[in-house]
Amino acid sequence: MRKLIAKLVNGEITRRDFAARVLGMGFGMMTVESILDTVTIAGESNRSAKNAESFRAEPFSEKTPYEQWIEKEDVPVHAGYFVPNVRTVELKPWKRLGASGAIINLEGAEATDGAYLCEIAPGVATNPQRYMFEESIYVLDGEGETTVWHENRPKQTFKWKKGTLFSPPLNTWRIHKNTGRAPARFISVTDLPLVMDLYHNADFIFNNDFVFRDRYNNQPDYFTVNESKMKIAGSAATFGEGEKGAVGVLDTGLIPDLNQIQLFAAKARGLKNKSAEVILSDNSMQTHVSEFEIGTYKRAHRHGPGSHVLSLGGVGYTLMWTGVPKYSDAPKKVRVDWREGTLFVPPDRWFHQHFNTGDSSAKYMATTWIGGKYWVKGMGGGGRTHRLNTISFHAGGNMIDYPDEDPMIREMFEADLKKHGVLPRMPEKK
Ligand SMILES: [Fe+2]
Repeated sequence: MRKLIAKLVNGEITRRDFAARVLGMGFGMMTVESILDTVTIAGESNRSAKNAESFRAEPFSEKTPYEQWIEKEDVPVHAGYFVPNVRTVELKPWKRLGASGAIINLEGAEATDGAYLCEIAPGVATNPQRYMFEESIYVLDGEGETTVWHENRPKQTFKWKKGTLFSPPLNTWRIHKNTGRAPARFISVTDLPLVMDLYHNADFIFNNDFVFRDRYNNQPDYFTVNESKMKIAGSAATFGEGEKGAVGVLDTGLIPDLNQIQLFAAKARGLKNKSAEVILSDNSMQTHVSEFEIGTYKRAHRHGPGSHVLSLGGVGYTLMWTGVPKYSDAPKKVRVDWREGTLFVPPDRWFHQHFNTGDSSAKYMATTWIGGKYWVKGMGGGGRTHRLNTISFHAGGNMIDYPDEDPMIREMFEADLKKHGVLPRMPEKK
């Protein structure tokens, strides 16, 4: 009997042969089933042990579990208030991905969400991965395809190129392949910091069999866009009263070209401002797309942490300041000069204001760890503060209207426009 069990464990005989021979020895069916169950469980735990993550978070540490984890990944970590250009910033081979990468851990994310970069050489595919955190991927350069699947379920492959925004659904297996002739680079915004800090268990996150069929069940049109996926929706979780019902929400797994989606007038946020919201793959995360015209700037506002603002085109700057509505009195201020590829995150409750100083309209996307489809109300995120960002601070909101702003805001903008030879298009203040 012992020899037979050894043969079964080593795969030298099939389960059916094993059962026939044990039954032939006079043992009952219950004995056979019990041995087969034990061998199956042992096999699964062996597989699990083989894939086990070596990371263990130190307790009672000054560093969060996420901060400890990124140190062990052994790739560049870009920190501070902004990254001047995510399309050119330094990467290094990342064993986990099987491609080059870097982690972005900006001040303003405040451990809610974060980002990573991945660059794949022509003809190369990343290692298969699955994980228990959401990600929103924007293709910065190149072209390729991604295959996703749930364990033991059919695979689905879709194409992408520069400008595509997509999200492999939560905990699906995923492989990204560069099918072009140049390196393909993407940025992914994730809620891993929050998930890692809550569970501090890498096996749970990277080696978890749970299947979210509610989010993705192999629907053939999942990674496409059509009119049925554009909704006029939204709750008080993300929109002020004035905007609710007036903003388009695109709810899909993939947008082939983010620069082509329809934007809607959003006057409450700024003069000649247009925007749309994107929910990818039934995520809690959300992406906001905004465009504002030549010679204009948006109203200042503030909200919770974690909005990863990525410039998609145009030239300008953003002011971020803490403490008081009047910029020149703020105890701390940061100016970010941006162009395509600049990434920054306004810190928790800091006012921030975007200025277009270039000779074309300016567009950016902002991905954050909370959205309007499922209202995550905690931690000063969108549920608490984004919804007041179109209401003046005089009325208890988090917005500074043009007439209430520090006079030096307009002076700085006009001086900057002059340098660029662009005429201002802002109305006189009343
Ligand atoms: Fe904002």
